[in-house]
Amino acid sequence: MNNGFKTGFLWGGATAANQCEGAYNEDGKGLSTQDVMPQGIMGPITEVPTEDNMKLVGIDFYHRYQEDIKLFAEMGFKVFRLSIAWSRIFPKGDEMEPNELGLEFYDKVFDECLKHGIEPLVTISHYETPLHLAKAYDGWRNRKMIGFFENYVRTIFTRYKDKVKYWLTFNEINTLLHAPFMSGGIMTPKEELSKQDLYQAIHHELVASALATKIGHEIMPDAKIGCMVIALPIYPLTPHPDDIIKMMATDRSNLLFSDIHVRGQYPSYAKRLFEENNVHIHMEPGDEEILKHTVDFISFSYYSSACETADQDKKASQGNILLGTKNPYLKASEWGWQIDPQGLRYVLNTLYDRYQKPLFIVENGLGAVDELVEGPDGRKTVMDDYRIQYLNDHLVQIREAIHDGVDVMGYTTWGCIDLVSASTAELKKRYGFIYVDRHDDGSGTLKRYKKKSFEWYKEVIATNGESL
Ligand code: BG6
Repeated sequence: MNNGFKTGFLWGGATAANQCEGAYNEDGKGLSTQDVMPQGIMGPITEVPTEDNMKLVGIDFYHRYQEDIKLFAEMGFKVFRLSIAWSRIFPKGDEMEPNELGLEFYDKVFDECLKHGIEPLVTISHYETPLHLAKAYDGWRNRKMIGFFENYVRTIFTRYKDKVKYWLTFNEINTLLHAPFMSGGIMTPKEELSKQDLYQAIHHELVASALATKIGHEIMPDAKIGCMVIALPIYPLTPHPDDIIKMMATDRSNLLFSDIHVRGQYPSYAKRLFEENNVHIHMEPGDEEILKHTVDFISFSYYSSACETADQDKKASQGNILLGTKNPYLKASEWGWQIDPQGLRYVLNTLYDRYQKPLFIVENGLGAVDELVEGPDGRKTVMDDYRIQYLNDHLVQIREAIHDGVDVMGYTTWGCIDLVSASTAELKKRYGFIYVDRHDDGSGTLKRYKKKSFEWYKEVIATNGESL
């Protein structure tokens, strides 16, 4: 068997604007939902940005992007996934004219990537709706959001059409059901939202995503536009048929999103799902036509698998934003996320069997507490063998999936440079190949240090995976 990874495989790393840029109010940027979420998903929403919010400074990527991209280039990155902060381009979200300084910032970032031969892979909306849209419209519950989003995507596609070829519409679009404020800018408290409210908001996002794909293909005929979902393979906790049926239902509630993006229509199983939850999607004339603008590829994050059971007494949550029952055969990270490299092979195969479209793993990695120590050469570093092990194990399974016949476009590790966590808003949960000296009490020099995994990943990329 050959090595598996094709020539031109897109190796790289991933970030999101709100978790690394900082500069939350510089150069005309408006506030985003993340600026008022100092404790992450479970915490309170504050009236105004508060000093304890680590994202206000992030890792100061806004001022240090040149140094950071140079380090990515040193590792040999072919692609760098980043997101555009919507509120840098449209500070309130509903104005017609963009903020030129915001546009200029991303021009500089993309130029820097291209200078180093790195393709930018851009997430258009990564968990940061302009705060004004959340407050004045209740975010994606309001159909007007489609128009604001259309204006935003037209602006960025037109501006960056010669610099960016790979685009993703909404980060982890299947999380809106679970984290409506972070994922959909919906101010109404989750407990007060009905399934009807949530699925209608999802419909608005799905139409907006398909519309972006349509507009993107018109403005940039050579661009590749993908959807982005959390991939969470679901195993039955037992072979009991009740568990199998429960697993099927949970699986479908996640797959609904990629099904629509890839097939251009609601799947047949949606009818029963909606009936049982008393959901009636309000479609405007033309929505069905717009949904037919399907994606070029499917991208996803993968951190964990989960089990499903019909037995309420056996449910025990673990995982990322989508929670599932613990698997008795798997170990977990320090944050309790279960580690399952083979689950990645499995999910690659199931998605490819289902869609026969190229797949892109745009997030995967281990959040861990790292310790800066003196390395063998006397320089400060982190001896993160645990991270190397995690990533190596997952890449081996990607190679297996490629041998199984799956078309994999690329792989970007999450948080290739340490950044602020999305779920808990801490910096002590680190994912990077590059350590950033900043701590949850706000202290630190922001200096960057290469971890042991930096050299490991450099070798993986240089050998196109032979070194695994
Ligand atoms: C994904 C998000 O859910 O997981 C990222 O797209 C996030 O924004 C990543 O950072 C890891 O989660 P966390 O909570 O450890 O930051």
